[in-house]
Amino acid sequence: MTETRTKGFSEHDAITLVVTHYGIKGVARKLNGEIDLNFYIRDVTGKEYVLKIANPKENLQQLELQNAIMKRLAASLVGLDLQQIITSTDNKEIVQLPVDDGVRFMRMLTWIDGRVLADVKPHSPSLLYKVGEMCGKLSKGLSGFDHEAAHRFMKWDPSQANWVGDHLNKIKGERRDIAAYCYSLFEKNQSALDSLRKSVNYNDANDYNILIRGTGNNVAVPGVIDFGDVVYTHTINELAIALAYVMMHKADPLEAAIHAIKGYHDQYPIEENELAVLFILVTTRLLISVTCSAVNLEEHPENIYLQISDKPAWDLLRKLIAISPELAHYSFRNACGMEPCAKNKTFTQWVGTGFKETVFPVKKSDPIQWLDLRVDSLDTGLTENLFDASLLNRKISQLMSDAGTTLAIGRYNEARAFYTTDAFTSQGNDAPQWRTVHVGMDFFTNPGSEVYAVLDGTVHSFANNSADRDYGPTIILEHRVSDDLVFYSLSGHLSLDSISNLRPGQKIQKSDIIGRVGTAEENGKWPPHLHFQIILDMLDKQGDFPGVAFAHQRELWKSISPDPWLLFTGKSSEEVPTLTNEAIVAYRSQHLGKNMSISYREPIKMVRGHGAYLLDDTGRKYLDTVNNVAHVGHEHPRVVAAGQAQMAVLNTNTRYLHENLVKFVEMLLNTTPSELNVAFVVNSGSEANELAMRLAKTYTEQKDMIVSEVGYHGNTNGCIEISSYKFDGAGGKGVTPFVHVIPIADVYRGLYRSNDPKAGSKYALHVFDAVKKIQSFGRAPAALIYESVISCGGQVELPAGFLKEAYQFVRNAGGVCVADEVQTGCGRSGDHFWAFQQHDVVPDIVTIGKPIGNGHPLGVVVTTQAIADSFKNGMEYFNTFGGNPVSCAVGLEVLRVIKDEGLQQNAKVVGGYLKSGLHSLMNTFEIVGDVRGPGLFIGFELVKDKETKEPATEQASYFANRMRDKGILMSTDGPFNNVLKIKPPLVFSQSNADFLLESIAKVLEEDYMSL
Ligand SMILES: Cc1ncc(COP(=O)(O)O)c(C=O)c1O
Repeated sequence: MTETRTKGFSEHDAITLVVTHYGIKGVARKLNGEIDLNFYIRDVTGKEYVLKIANPKENLQQLELQNAIMKRLAASLVGLDLQQIITSTDNKEIVQLPVDDGVRFMRMLTWIDGRVLADVKPHSPSLLYKVGEMCGKLSKGLSGFDHEAAHRFMKWDPSQANWVGDHLNKIKGERRDIAAYCYSLFEKNQSALDSLRKSVNYNDANDYNILIRGTGNNVAVPGVIDFGDVVYTHTINELAIALAYVMMHKADPLEAAIHAIKGYHDQYPIEENELAVLFILVTTRLLISVTCSAVNLEEHPENIYLQISDKPAWDLLRKLIAISPELAHYSFRNACGMEPCAKNKTFTQWVGTGFKETVFPVKKSDPIQWLDLRVDSLDTGLTENLFDASLLNRKISQLMSDAGTTLAIGRYNEARAFYTTDAFTSQGNDAPQWRTVHVGMDFFTNPGSEVYAVLDGTVHSFANNSADRDYGPTIILEHRVSDDLVFYSLSGHLSLDSISNLRPGQKIQKSDIIGRVGTAEENGKWPPHLHFQIILDMLDKQGDFPGVAFAHQRELWKSISPDPWLLFTGKSSEEVPTLTNEAIVAYRSQHLGKNMSISYREPIKMVRGHGAYLLDDTGRKYLDTVNNVAHVGHEHPRVVAAGQAQMAVLNTNTRYLHENLVKFVEMLLNTTPSELNVAFVVNSGSEANELAMRLAKTYTEQKDMIVSEVGYHGNTNGCIEISSYKFDGAGGKGVTPFVHVIPIADVYRGLYRSNDPKAGSKYALHVFDAVKKIQSFGRAPAALIYESVISCGGQVELPAGFLKEAYQFVRNAGGVCVADEVQTGCGRSGDHFWAFQQHDVVPDIVTIGKPIGNGHPLGVVVTTQAIADSFKNGMEYFNTFGGNPVSCAVGLEVLRVIKDEGLQQNAKVVGGYLKSGLHSLMNTFEIVGDVRGPGLFIGFELVKDKETKEPATEQASYFANRMRDKGILMSTDGPFNNVLKIKPPLVFSQSNADFLLESIAKVLEEDYMSL
């Protein structure tokens, strides 16, 4: 097709034409193009152009229109960066080239840099916002502009889609139904178009015409190319067309659209009547697209490309027809800062003007107990109480009986953790999302209690929504208050017999008994209660309506379903106020240690933990791959119970006898080599290392410490002095006398690499050198302290033989060897309970922290009899909190859980699985330079070049933030902050690992990660 059209114009011809007509010497390269013939031109100075030779059928006025519009947009200074017209040497914008069969029109434009939207990954909210902004600039720039040639039929114009009707029969099967539905929407709304603003539109903001520059957080949308579809039509079509492409390939198209709508609205405010039809114009544009394909396919049935090219449009249409157009309309209004459901104003006015003659939906009792069912509620306790129907029932009954009431109310607009289950999830554009925000009110009371009609009405619909965790039997009444105000009330979780004698349209009088509260068996397995909800627009639903909403759509659903309390009292059922994220950040920055860092550009308010997950205050669930402190899982029920039980009875210090201390230490010492059989129980890793230093110094009567480059051992004075990660890092003051740093034993980027079989010995020789140096001062080393896997330093696994030889050098000189297991201990390394065991050494002192308390402040120092004896030198060792019965109960339970749940084995199996998955990714993606670490203590390093190993620090930071978008917590570390750490709670499962690997792969595919 292209061949015949381009006949006569080769690249060589293009070079000649450019010299002849524009006086520009350069090279030419033919560009792909279906209709016109385009050449890329680069002149001798490097300036770039496009030479455009229009197809033989092109008419001059259309090209003049294109030129006029480009000039207009440039002159309007709206901030678009578009191609400019180059005039010929005889000052013509359009050159007429005589050819055999007539004339061809030629134009020269400047080249414009950028990638097209279709090639950009990801389509982040900020990118989509900028796409919308760019369309808004087009509308702003073209407002008031007119051109005769723009008044024409253009089949791609959504407002002129009538032609489609004659071709629907070319679409077959299920697709035909979709197309017919979309066409009916168009026809139904056609008259509504009459009142909309009109203008000359660019009219083709598709994903191959929108240009993008930059990547990651620096992405920009400078403009568009190809002005061939310009038409005079309804202004809002400019956005509608872009939305059709913005929504493509998105799991949640509506959410994607919101960002672009906001961007457009901020540039060129959208009017209410435009928002009312915007969604339908989008479906219409897609309908045009698929109909064009069907027409083309009929003409060229053999064309394989035509058979598949419309799939994304069909996929999107299939998703869009499942969305109520009114819901889309409301969410678009919300995006523009308008009340989403306009009727909300009428309703609020009505309830606000003193109308209170409604009936309470259940029998009132005295007192009424308000329940706190928010994600962070301290009343509901463990998360497992929330997911298990009978546990939740028991919990709520207990809360009610404690309050001495038969009626408890669950609030409106409350984000709740018990909705973070599969029944309430769907895939968002980046991550799974859960409908957690309750938009009704719950009245917990005895099953069988009467449920009353709150106002006169008629039965709108009813159903038994019998799925697990659904409403069970549900009745929806319609209330006609006035011609302007009709609304609905939904009563859910009723008894089965409540819906047995109803018919739609049946009249109901205020205070009639419409049903009874159902039992857990009949109500979707919830504690017996009435869910009562006001609905201002049924969105075409019958017998059912969403009672919970995604947190990001909170305002939208609150507008459709206002606070029921307004109906009974005229007042809102205010939530107990909580501190916003901004307030917490502001307070912290003023009144808390100023160098305490906060994770992520947008901090998270984390309020609940459960296994390998953390939940924020909106019920957003994050898979935690960072937190090795929650070793046996966040808020492990057995650990929580052990701590709570002991705390209720006694917490005191080690000056009294208590068997918790003995039981805990006994179980711990069963895991350490037999030589290590004396323990000191402390409160943190820092404190453990602080004590380890005292023990070593007392025992050896020396004070020189040998430490690793980038090692970290804690936050106290003494610990900072042995932590090169700190004293050599930002704000550090360098090494102090008596501390000797040896090069980090890193076989990836250190002095000796993995290809050197003697690397371990060579690194150990640096320990030897340090010993010699200490001896040269007439002293001896007190201790060598080493993390068994260097953590903050970048998850660095020590090479074989290193520790063994290093220990020997130190011991030969009279020093002792300390293994810092604060990060790595308690089964995390998989093959062994303690990571030092991998190196076939027995330290003289082991320090233990983070994992042993599962979040409770607990640390331990374990050492030999000889060292412990030397420390007993007359000075009492007293620790106010160390070894208290509560801490010991917690520590003991952690050890028991590790054993009972086989968590060390899990670390080995899942860690191995994860590591092999990461290795495959390393082979696929250039940016992954190294994968390392034992068990579930893994690191992978991002580099700009696998050879030079230049750290990809910015990419690592981008990566961690994108993983957060995907619902995964991950952090960076290492001297260059380019190592991603994976050290999750040991309950991390294989399916967690699959989700993690899948998400890592997706982010690695993004533009910012390609080098
Ligand atoms: C290896 C190592 N040792 C000691 C500590 C200090 O522990 P804590 O923060 O409990 O004082 C840390 C803390 O991150 C650590 O990573």
